[in-house]
Amino acid sequence: MCLLTGCGGSRSPRKDPGVEPRPSAAPVEGAPANLARIGEVESMAIASRIQTAHPIGPYSATIRVDQAAAAYGKPARGPMPAGSMIVEALSREQDGPVELYYVMQRMPKGYFPEGGDWNYAVVAPDGTIKAGGKLALCARCHAEAAREHLFEYVTAP
Ligand code: HEC
Repeated sequence: MCLLTGCGGSRSPRKDPGVEPRPSAAPVEGAPANLARIGEVESMAIASRIQTAHPIGPYSATIRVDQAAAAYGKPARGPMPAGSMIVEALSREQDGPVELYYVMQRMPKGYFPEGGDWNYAVVAPDGTIKAGGKLALCARCHAEAAREHLFEYVTAP
């Protein structure tokens, strides 16, 4: 039995040195394809700042929206278009470092009817997607929101 590196000859199970390791930020299957846009978050408009009701604890939330979702929180608005993106940045203290992003991105009609056709994702500050896609837990609670699975709890930004 061979316990030494390299003594297996050509049948050595050693890794091919040309194989790249899987990047940690590799997209999760079913996650929004352009969550790479998480890098744009800081430049998105702030729609609301609140204490979150998400069951992760007493976190401060800053909700940002891209241009397609600019009508977020407005009493009268049309439906959110496919591609629009809403990001809730969660910090332990207001204006403290972001620990987690909760993301909703509108997908084409029929993508996930039970979830309002949103793609739900949890993203780490470095862009790593921790979970994403048709997340039933997110969708079930968001189904209780008044419009299009959106709570739109807006306070003065
Ligand atoms: C128990 C209910 C509940 C669950 C589960 C839940 N949410 Fe929410 N979500 C809320 C509420 C209430 C708000 C309003 C803002 C707040 O309290 O943070 C909200 C707001 C949001 C917003 C801002 C858009 C809006 O609806 O106004 C995003 C983005 C979001 N949630 C993403 C997620 C994601 C992603 C998940 C799953 C990982 C999730 N939520 C799970 C209740 C929930």
